[in-house]
Amino acid sequence: MASIQEKIELMKKKQAKVLAGGGEKRIEKQHASGKKTARERVDLLLDPGTFVELDQFVTHRCTNFGMEKKELPGEGVVTGYGTVEGRLVYVFAQDFTVEGGSLGEMHAAKICKVADLAVKMGAPIIGINDSGGARIQEAVDALAGYGKIFFKNTLTSGVVPQIAAIMGPCAGGAVYSPALMDFIYMVKNTSQMFITGPQVIKAVTNEEVTAEQLGGAMTHNSVSGVAHFAAENDEDCLEQIRRLISFLPSNNMEPAPIVETGDDPERTDDSLNTICPDNSNMPYDMKSVIEKIVDNGDYYEVHQYYAQNIITCFARMDGQTVGIIANQPRVMAGCLDVNASDKSSRFIRFCDAFNIPLLNLVDVPGFLPGTNQEYGGIIRHGAKMLYAYSEATVPKITLVTRKAYGGSYLAMCSQDLGADQVIAWPQAEIAVMGPAGAANIIFKGDPDSAKKTEEYVENFANPYQAAARGFVDRVIEPKDSRPEIINALRMLSTKRESRPAKRHGNIPL
Ligand code: HXC
Repeated sequence: MASIQEKIELMKKKQAKVLAGGGEKRIEKQHASGKKTARERVDLLLDPGTFVELDQFVTHRCTNFGMEKKELPGEGVVTGYGTVEGRLVYVFAQDFTVEGGSLGEMHAAKICKVADLAVKMGAPIIGINDSGGARIQEAVDALAGYGKIFFKNTLTSGVVPQIAAIMGPCAGGAVYSPALMDFIYMVKNTSQMFITGPQVIKAVTNEEVTAEQLGGAMTHNSVSGVAHFAAENDEDCLEQIRRLISFLPSNNMEPAPIVETGDDPERTDDSLNTICPDNSNMPYDMKSVIEKIVDNGDYYEVHQYYAQNIITCFARMDGQTVGIIANQPRVMAGCLDVNASDKSSRFIRFCDAFNIPLLNLVDVPGFLPGTNQEYGGIIRHGAKMLYAYSEATVPKITLVTRKAYGGSYLAMCSQDLGADQVIAWPQAEIAVMGPAGAANIIFKGDPDSAKKTEEYVENFANPYQAAARGFVDRVIEPKDSRPEIINALRMLSTKRESRPAKRHGNIPL
């Protein structure tokens, strides 16, 4: 009978085999293509030495096509837990060196297990994807594996943050698990996502496209909006994920962590008084407004390259995480369109699910006019913003910096949609529509229309009509924006708001 020493040796031998993944040659190939291995990625993501691996010895049970003779170390996926800045997270990383990281029945079971643990323990889950998709030899068992993961992703949604990193090819079924998660990172030049690859496209539609054009990082960051973040390389991607996690609570029952940022909550900024040009048709950069009001000017943009007419970002104010949704007058004059509506609605719902207060910076002239937008369903998409803001019960603060016209103002969270505090700068123009357009309608044909229009603009392009009805809580000097917002956040920290019980609402998708 084997001694304990021999048994320990056997265990170590088995572990070493798993740690070696697909072997030296395939690891070299992985490195040569600019990618880290699954284990290297996990180590970069987590605090040093904190990774605890689970299910090292899980094996497949496929007997098709001689698979019974094939050993797949770790089943092609490394799973376990560790910490990010001392906070518990769960992780899975597909190992492309083992059968192309393809997903079989037991590979899927390993992923589902960490997802279950993440929910039970209330900790974020991070999935590192690098896979050829369903393991073809396993046929419907692989398909069912994906199905189980999709189901798990959906049940986990809104319970713990789910973050997907795309760090290699991601085809077929492999794209939908990331799409069901909260945030998708892609690495430039080495990652792709598509439902059907270039060869299938060529065969079916005769269209010629490269994998990178079809589903590369910038395609999904700037064109489709499928991805939220782009990274330069693997290290940058994993570092960015650590940064994102620092802003987020671990689960839906907790507030986001408070971070000592050292920035004075009473800090004012004189330059805000002159940031809006006198001519209200001239643009300015809303990002500089954000920089001037948040802690240390530090913010982390979500969907930086997509629908740039609206900005969505995480930042801190007096150490507390806030989700900022801001019109960008520099791009399309800050108009709302289909993509901006989708981008911001999704962000609002994430923040609301995870107890992150919303700060809305408004300078919006309207919804973008045109057949393109109407045929694209701007009514349905714009309605998502109305829905998402109305549904959100986290503290909601709206700061109107300049234009706030018509339905687009409502869609940026006016008081009627539940803003708890509406603050306006003195140059705010809160009105039922653009004042010049409104005057054109009511004074049409009037010989004194020019003079009357001027009077109308004078009387209505300001914050005081709205303030007179109590739709604006405070009109402030722009330089005081930071202390005013922090004060409002403190006041709202005990906010409780409940809604009628229902199975779930029906957001206009
Ligand atoms: C089994 C696979 C595999 C797969 C790759 N491999 N994909 N094995 N099932 N899906 C294996 C390869 O045979 C190879 O094994 C190793 O992984 C590395 O693959 P290479 O092709 O050598 O690598 P590379 O040239 O970098 O190309 C990577 C790739 C390509 C672009 C991902 O492998 C590829 O096109 N794979 C198939 C992608 C695909 O069509 N997936 C869809 C599956 S169906 P060796 O032993 O040579 O190292 C699907 C439907 C699910 O996902 C639907 C759910 C809703």
